[in-house]
Amino acid sequence: MGLEGGYLRGVELSLTPIGLRDKRSASARFRGLLSVTLTHGGLEMEAIEAIRTRRSVRRFRRGVSIPNSVIEQLIEAGTCAPSAHGLQPWEFVVVTDPSVRRRIAATGRWASFLPEAAIGIVVCAHEPSAGLASKDGMWVIQDTACACENILLAAHALGLGACWIGDFSAEVVKRELQIPKGLEPVAILAVGVPEGSTAAGHWRRPLSEVLHWGKFQRT
Ligand SMILES: Cc1cc2nc3c(=O)[nH]c(=O)nc-3n(C[C@H](O)[C@H](O)[C@H](O)COP(=O)(O)O)c2cc1C
Repeated sequence: MGLEGGYLRGVELSLTPIGLRDKRSASARFRGLLSVTLTHGGLEMEAIEAIRTRRSVRRFRRGVSIPNSVIEQLIEAGTCAPSAHGLQPWEFVVVTDPSVRRRIAATGRWASFLPEAAIGIVVCAHEPSAGLASKDGMWVIQDTACACENILLAAHALGLGACWIGDFSAEVVKRELQIPKGLEPVAILAVGVPEGSTAAGHWRRPLSEVLHWGKFQRT
């Protein structure tokens, strides 16, 4: 069963400038961004709402595929992320084959749900760009992390569920997916239609603990 026939029916993605909520200037697919308004069967999800309600989803409805057009929206959201010097040092490999995902999942302790998802998005960092962008190579990792979060948020906003997987063998992923030299798989994003409730949230450290005004101080 594809999503067009079921879960995502009625989901409309549009953009509305702040203060203009009548969608006169709405245009699809993350362009001309002032604020993102997403419509789920009449309910609007704004960017802040999407950020606050996103959760890692590790249980997926079996046998439900995601249309390529939706996958492309996710990847496009990833490419909208900021990157040092605007280098965009990322590549995205979409893995649909469950047997490939099973072999990858077997290389980590915390990746068992990857084969149950509709897809895995392997996010790769372009290592040669690390030298161009920063002396310690950290920026390409930050760039790709930004892209990952964009994809997680876009998935959530579109009514999908997703979870970041960091626990896998990069060597096995490179071999399985024929990833060329110079590209390092840094994350796999399992994406699918959520099974069951996604409401339970992971506890957050309160602002009173993590926010420091002006200088670092313990309250
Ligand atoms: C760098 C990174 C690596 C992660 N690796 C895994 C993983 O291997 N397996 C997993 O189940 N979750 C993984 N997660 C998801 C975290 O466990 C999750 O984000 C955290 O528990 C907070 O929950 P929330 O995403 O629902 O807010 C990872 C998250 C990040 C940012």
